[in-house]
Amino acid sequence: MSNHPALGASTKKLSRRSFLTLAAAMGASAAWSGTGLSLSVPWQERRDLYPEGVGSGDPDSTSVLLWTRRPFDDGRAIGHLTVQVAEDEAFHRMVTSAPVSVAAAADWTCRVLVGGLKPARVYWYRFSDESGFGSRIGRTITAPADDDPRPVRFAFVSCQNANDGAMNAYRRMIYEDERAAPADQLGFVLHLGDFIYELVWYPEDRPQGMYDRRIRDIVRYKNGQKISDFHIPTTADDYRAVYRAYLHDPDLQDARARFPFVTMWDNHEFSWMGWQSIEMFGGKSIPAQTRKVAANQAWFEYHAARVAKPSGPSLDTFDPPHVVDTPVQTFDDHGMGTEPNNLAAVRSLRGYRRLRWGRHVDLIITDQRSYRSEEPTTRPESDAFDSPEWGAFVPQEALEILDAGRTCNSGHPPDTIRYGDKEVPNYMKDRPAQTVLGAEQKAWFLDCLRNSKATWKIWGNTLGTLDWRADPQNLPSGLTSKPWPGVGYAIVGGGDSSTAFCERAEIYDFVQKEGIAGFATVAGDRHSFWAGLAASTLPPRKFEPVGIAFITGSISAPGMVEAIEHNMPKDDPLRPLYLCDRPGEQKPVPTVNLLAHHGVRSCLEYQRTGDAAKARAVSNPDVAPHLSFLDMGGHGYATVKVSAEYFETEFVCIPRPIERSTREDGGPLRYRVSHRARLWRKGERPKLEQHVLEGDPGLAV
Ligand SMILES: [Fe+2]
Repeated sequence: MSNHPALGASTKKLSRRSFLTLAAAMGASAAWSGTGLSLSVPWQERRDLYPEGVGSGDPDSTSVLLWTRRPFDDGRAIGHLTVQVAEDEAFHRMVTSAPVSVAAAADWTCRVLVGGLKPARVYWYRFSDESGFGSRIGRTITAPADDDPRPVRFAFVSCQNANDGAMNAYRRMIYEDERAAPADQLGFVLHLGDFIYELVWYPEDRPQGMYDRRIRDIVRYKNGQKISDFHIPTTADDYRAVYRAYLHDPDLQDARARFPFVTMWDNHEFSWMGWQSIEMFGGKSIPAQTRKVAANQAWFEYHAARVAKPSGPSLDTFDPPHVVDTPVQTFDDHGMGTEPNNLAAVRSLRGYRRLRWGRHVDLIITDQRSYRSEEPTTRPESDAFDSPEWGAFVPQEALEILDAGRTCNSGHPPDTIRYGDKEVPNYMKDRPAQTVLGAEQKAWFLDCLRNSKATWKIWGNTLGTLDWRADPQNLPSGLTSKPWPGVGYAIVGGGDSSTAFCERAEIYDFVQKEGIAGFATVAGDRHSFWAGLAASTLPPRKFEPVGIAFITGSISAPGMVEAIEHNMPKDDPLRPLYLCDRPGEQKPVPTVNLLAHHGVRSCLEYQRTGDAAKARAVSNPDVAPHLSFLDMGGHGYATVKVSAEYFETEFVCIPRPIERSTREDGGPLRYRVSHRARLWRKGERPKLEQHVLEGDPGLAV
């Protein structure tokens, strides 16, 4: 099911009349190929009048949404534009020209659905106003028809921070795509969230910069709230301002003009530690229903996406529901806050949806923030598992007990959880098991998986699903003042789909039970590149992968390696598990890439010898049998090529994007690594085959 069933895959056989009826039902401005082919005044490009450029999104095989923003400052409430679509960049072979409008109420943004297009075709589009002043020209591509057997290529990206980084990854993507053979060009860019970072520093807040970076003066919030040394938005105008600031980045704007985007929000489109309509700062929950609605409004206005909103079918304006910031104190059996303003705010925009590209791709995109239950380790009681000595390490068995809540041990959760010589109260024992998707979305998701007819069922999850753990139980005694307080493995990261153990197992067990082949996950959020297999448990439990999973490095936001280079004390006894200082080298070597992939002995061996082969030779095969690749310091993007037989992901890694590159290729590459899986059959185990195509990924393999 797509959010607008009639606008999803089923538009392919629509007649013009039914398309227009449908568009009218959505309230969408609509254009149909073959209508009204001339402008009354000649077109003249005036990019200054469309400062955020153009974009397109959510193509299907016969239609696509086009986007622009044309502000008017002469007091009017509505502006009238014309959209033109052509088969060529010079607009000699025009396919449609139609009136569209922009409204002050939508911050002068415009979304128009263009129908009657041919599948798997490149189209060019532009907007112009009554004076013939035009936007830049955009390029978009329709999806292949459902029975099209040709391979599909797309990119997936996440985490672009314009406040402290540069968008060189997009320049590289454009450069390579322009030079690729038509069959190898990208069909779309899947953006898995953190399109903006709502949390903004003004340069004077951090004269020392951020790690290796300087703070750019990108936006000043009119109604912002200062927390600690940063600023957050509080109104729709504030959120809109940060989108505009980001879209003024030339590399991002050029990427939006070249590729159709398929987007889903992660946390920073609303709030850093946000979940449902609640913000969290300084360990306190802050009811933020008005801000969640404001965040949704700005997202709706600045993306071209087939999303649904109960306030009405109009694609022209968001029509926000009225909500009041009210504490959320009661939760249902799935951890959903039952407070009516919370429900109204999270339901004000439904982003989860399914899109189809040809015979091989079903892209099922989920929302990991709006319906999730409270993450157990964000509760103050979890401080009992904090230890300065062990940093991010938390015993896996403790997190599993907390995740399962009252369902733990078949409904008999323990009253306490052992942590070294302490017994920590099990503060989750009366609460439901953690969910990231929420009950309704999860049911929809499983239904999509079961009913998919495509070769590959691709889960667009903004959050990582691959376990991130270490084996401190294997540390030599004496390295730390006290032994590891857990009984076995430590979880290092978490708070994402990888530590929603019960829910992940429910999904993977479903995939296995239903015999679903071709299950692949693409994710963002972790600011690091990961390739591996999807399995609900790891040794010492059974390891039975049911799919393949990938996580892309950030476009520009700082990653863990950069953070620990700046934050990790030189005399921390666990420093060798993260960084290895080599004499004469400016930057330490990130042994953290070995930690979650090969275990602590590999890190210590590398520290002793500086020899990667010797380090891998003492790998603990049980710490991460699911992983093929892990780079906690990589930035860039990933591409995917899918065909009847293969799913192939390529990580395109660039140097730390501290400043904008002036090169037409966006600057040098660090490495290019591919992972390929052959389609497996029911009962077969998926496998990844790795190829280093360019450069040196160092300790990431
Ligand atoms: Fe991020």
